[in-house]
Amino acid sequence: MSEGENRESLENLLREERRFAPPAEVTANANVKADAYERAAADRLGFWAEQARRLSWETEPTEVLDWSNPPFAKWFQDGRLNVAYNCVDRHVEAGNGDRVAIHFEGEPGDTRTITYAELQKEVCKAANALTALGVSAGDRVAVYMPMIPETVIAMLACARIGAPHSVVFGGFSADALTSRIQDADARVVITADGGNRRGKPNALKPVVDEAATRVPSVEKVLVVRRTGQEVAWNDDRDVWWHEALADQPDTHTPQAFDAEHPLYILYTSGTTGKPKGILHTSGGYLTQASWTHHAVFDLKPETDVYWCTADVGWVTGHSYIVYGPLANGATQVMYEGTPDTPHKGRFWEIVQKYGVTILYAAPTAIRTFMKWGDDIPKQFDLSSLRILGSVGEPINPEAWIWYREAIGGGKAPIVDTWWQTETGAIMISPLPGVTTTKPGSAQRALPGISATVVDDQGHEVGNGQGGYLALTEPWPSMLRTIWGDDQRFIDTYWSRFEGKYFAGDGAKKDDDGDIWLLGRVDDVMLVSGHNISTTEVESALVSHPAVAEAAVVGAKDETTGQSIAAFVILRGSVDESGDLLSELRDHVGKTLGPIAKPKQVMAVTELPKTRSGKIMRRLLRDIAEGREVGDVTTLADASVMDLIKARSQK
Ligand code: WT7
Repeated sequence: MSEGENRESLENLLREERRFAPPAEVTANANVKADAYERAAADRLGFWAEQARRLSWETEPTEVLDWSNPPFAKWFQDGRLNVAYNCVDRHVEAGNGDRVAIHFEGEPGDTRTITYAELQKEVCKAANALTALGVSAGDRVAVYMPMIPETVIAMLACARIGAPHSVVFGGFSADALTSRIQDADARVVITADGGNRRGKPNALKPVVDEAATRVPSVEKVLVVRRTGQEVAWNDDRDVWWHEALADQPDTHTPQAFDAEHPLYILYTSGTTGKPKGILHTSGGYLTQASWTHHAVFDLKPETDVYWCTADVGWVTGHSYIVYGPLANGATQVMYEGTPDTPHKGRFWEIVQKYGVTILYAAPTAIRTFMKWGDDIPKQFDLSSLRILGSVGEPINPEAWIWYREAIGGGKAPIVDTWWQTETGAIMISPLPGVTTTKPGSAQRALPGISATVVDDQGHEVGNGQGGYLALTEPWPSMLRTIWGDDQRFIDTYWSRFEGKYFAGDGAKKDDDGDIWLLGRVDDVMLVSGHNISTTEVESALVSHPAVAEAAVVGAKDETTGQSIAAFVILRGSVDESGDLLSELRDHVGKTLGPIAKPKQVMAVTELPKTRSGKIMRRLLRDIAEGREVGDVTTLADASVMDLIKARSQK
């Protein structure tokens, strides 16, 4: 991108001028105050050493960071700790055993309340059971589970005995599970008969059976009984979880491991190429997961009820359901099912029932709720909510405002948190008691984190300019490598810009130097020599009252190089009458400038999304360019493409 083009594209950028100062009472009681930025800037490593003291170490680290062999970082390397002890036992020892760790809400309406004391017993039994099955420190364990407490218990049991887990999202196919088990060489798989989704049992065990047949190195499959559905059984290999745990003592002495001991592998959902096994280790990861959860959500463990709606199968679930909140002694809600089962107010009913104070959700969900209408959340008492989080993709200003008004009662600060599977924990986000927020911007690197926007050559851009997001200093929860492939780790993240981490996201700095994320770099369009981000055009479309959701792609165009094709979902009550689509084109033209006007706008009823809610633009590009639609196997719902194809041929 040349300078001139950069500036051109910036002139299109959102003219979002609404600002929201933090409420005085949040500022007054905030866990982290404005001075944290200065302290961390003056002594970054000292700042992280201070945060590491949030944890309980068997051997306190004396060295903060070893960066002598970049990009391979070692954080707190002479420290030793047990991650599960930090997430469970120490809270019981501190007299908080009776505090609720998990309020579990099953999709069918069954509930369980698990205190920290009970969690400790279950984790100990599971750790003993895994040991009895022959799992020892360093062995990898695959976890393929629904959203139930046993998933958390299984992960903590692995952590307790030093066996890195590899959680594979319960919606993935046998192919995906097979390749992940193989890549990590896991010999034990923990699964369930099934989980409840959309009002019916969704089987998991058959998928594991198929994978285990293809990977003969799988020796044992531990099966939680959740739905009670029929399962095939291999007596040599399969073991019921409840039977394996029943014989085990509910105490277990946690052994300390090195700070750099592997904690888990998590495969990135990536839309292209062989999945990458992202490796996270113990001490630095837990430090940043714990501190960011404390800072960004302003968690008060005695009074808050926290709810992260992500699936444990994604990194959001790892860092902000399991490790961060539990390290902080939080009380949280865990929900098994989908937001529309049995009715579209299920989430808000849960908020009301448990008095949820902190909610962490994804823009894709927020836009869906927006599409369903304000009337639904209005039927519930959401006044307990005091902090709202967003993660996973850029949140359009309109969805941000809706979240603030319809869910947050116009008062709860929104924290738009940018991070990745690779970063392990939140990197860029407002702080709820400090930041005057801007709808659509993640704003500023957290204290102790160094992020910037660079041009093609890796030079930092000035305010008001755009380019690529880069991280300029190592951070405690950074990935340590790609499992089994150090070279790919170097090539993917550390080769694009000398000495900097390449995140793969487009970004701009506004006039205040605040950062706006613009989506994956692959999603930037080039129209008549102008760089236009899909995110911006999507936001412009969603700012029109008729549009609930939008996805935009660049399609090959003989005259302009690429032209913009937009797919929109109209709001429930809107009629797709004659002029609406051309009105939408004009609306984008007015908002962003004529160059950003989509050439085609198509009304659709669904958009193709991965299971984690990311739009698969590659497939929409196939439609826009009139090609045969490519591989749809990672779509959450493959039939969506048939609907879109049918419309496009009308
Ligand atoms: C990619 C990472 C982080 C956990 C969930 C996704 C996008 C994430 C934001 C945000 C704009 C965001 C980026 C990033 N992303 N959060 N707040 N604003 N974009 O983890 O699957 O590893 O995806 O999600 O493009 O690179 P992931």
